Amino acid sequence: MRCSRCKEKAIIYLKPYKIALCKNCYPNFYLNLVSRSIKRYKIIRRGEKVLACVSGGKDSSAMAFALKKLGYNIEILYIDLGIGEYSVRSRKVVEELAEEIDVPFHLVELSEYGFTIDDVDVKKVCSVCGTAKRYLMNRFARMNGFDIIATGHTVEDMILFFIKNVLSGGIEWIPKLIPRSEGFNGLVTRARPLFERSEKENMLFVLSLNIPFLIDECPYAPRDVWKEIVYDIEAKKPGFKRNFVRGLIKLAKSVKIDERWNLRSCKVCGE
Ligand code: AMP
Ligand code: FES
Repeated sequence: MRCSRCKEKAIIYLKPYKIALCKNCYPNFYLNLVSRSIKRYKIIRRGEKVLACVSGGKDSSAMAFALKKLGYNIEILYIDLGIGEYSVRSRKVVEELAEEIDVPFHLVELSEYGFTIDDVDVKKVCSVCGTAKRYLMNRFARMNGFDIIATGHTVEDMILFFIKNVLSGGIEWIPKLIPRSEGFNGLVTRARPLFERSEKENMLFVLSLNIPFLIDECPYAPRDVWKEIVYDIEAKKPGFKRNFVRGLIKLAKSVKIDERWNLRSCKVCGE
């Protein structure tokens, strides 16, 4: 298979776009897609101060690298959750990435709050971890004058979030399924610049440019059967994920639930 652009040996055929690309042409193709999503959905405005939250995995490493390449004003935050060797290695990778792309690196340690994720009951670990991360990202961004928090959420994350919430009856979450959620009452604006990108596209991007990332998964990450189902549908219906997430954004924008009235601040810390 030959690259559709330069006729060199292709590394990938992207079915939804009907294009084959080589190692040299793929990164620019990817960057163009990210740039188009950001502009089309007004995800980040030029000049906004962006806190890129990077776990060290392929998705958030790709996100930080792409935003920097596209000229956005970013700094990196890594949260050390205290997950044994996994956290030690992730931190090293994120430091390396920040140095390579020449952006400030910030570190927040969960242990400063008196516990780590390794101390949490295994059954509750993912939900405690999610809450801790959201809390720490928001607090850090607000206290340090950032306009936006950017995360590496992928198209699969958006679809799975939707399916799982609908199945558990949590439809009040639907309006949050947009690539940019405006902040209010101390909540900083959230951006998901990779919401149309798949894990595979992100993986190819980091591999083709040798971007530092950690291949290991979090040791607490459960097997996700729903994710496997989403991959199966994509294999049978190429383009499913992209079209589904675009429909989802339209749906999320049309559902008007005013969440402001039921959000209160914490009595202890004010968050
Ligand atoms: P997850 O909740 O693990 O699916 O991660 C969602 C997003 O949160 C990632 O794409 C990152 O942008 C961010 N994130 C996750 N873990 C960390 C971490 N330890 N430090 C900084 N950002 C993180
Ligand atoms: Fe939070 Fe795995 S990253 S439990």
